Amino acid sequence: PTIYAITPTYARWTQKADLTRLAQTLLHVPNFRWIVVEDSDTKTPLVTRFLKFSGLQYTHLNAKTDTNFKLKSTDPNWLLPRGVSQRNEGLRWIRENLPANTGGVLYFLDDDNTYTLQIFEEMRSTKVASAWPVGLSGGLKFEGPGKCENGKVLEWYTAWKPERPFPIDMAGFAVHLKLLFQHPEAQYSNSVPRGYLESHFLTGLKLQRQDMEAKANECSEVLVWHTRTEKPKMKHEEALIKQGKSSNSKMEV
Ligand code: UGA
Ligand code: MN
Repeated sequence: PTIYAITPTYARWTQKADLTRLAQTLLHVPNFRWIVVEDSDTKTPLVTRFLKFSGLQYTHLNAKTDTNFKLKSTDPNWLLPRGVSQRNEGLRWIRENLPANTGGVLYFLDDDNTYTLQIFEEMRSTKVASAWPVGLSGGLKFEGPGKCENGKVLEWYTAWKPERPFPIDMAGFAVHLKLLFQHPEAQYSNSVPRGYLESHFLTGLKLQRQDMEAKANECSEVLVWHTRTEKPKMKHEEALIKQGKSSNSKMEV
């Protein structure tokens, strides 16, 4: 089965670096389509060019986050959910462009996480929905399925809001595409409490914890990490831009 991966992405100093690191991982994944959704009114030249020369099979979309829900650069990152409109645009594209009987697996890839090649081969055999631990997530070494046997999750390992229907990070699950067509209303929402993005989407697909197929060697291995890219200090560049002259306006970074 093909893996369809939806990635929200937004313009920032490290965008091209993050996308480069991710794309060069994805080049090693066979049978893969990357659905990249920009958080912008139009498709930017940077991402358009980047995808064109990436060597990947991709779909390029855009959907701007509603201003009520858009983080300001001074806001703490946890204040509002991120990537909601973009993931929904990717879901819309799949539902409108793929036949309902497409045998594929859906994954949500953030543009700054770290993914092993093994995790893609683990998720590829997903029959309905699958889950595995995510490293450096939820304020713990890992979060998600913690004890698994015979492909079933017996215990979930989490410390923060353990009452969530699915105490799991976005990078910790995949679902078969047929679920999207069986539950055409299921999508992400900006109006859920902190930490409930994943749970809201998965319960919208009428899934329960016990439905999840355990991956990553009975959930005993971390094959994906919730890494975050540090914001670079750009005070000289920003001062130049304020004066109307960036250090080299032709240089794409
Ligand atoms: C964590 C989870 O790993 C995300 O999947 C989840 O969306 C997020 O929390 C959340 O609670 O909303 P975190 O590292 O805190 O992730 O979030 P980011 O990596 O900053 O954003 C997640 C994705 O949304 C990234 O692919 C990013 O490029 C994109 N994004 C972020 C936008 O498209 N627009 C933005 O304004 C910010
Ligand atoms: Mn991130």
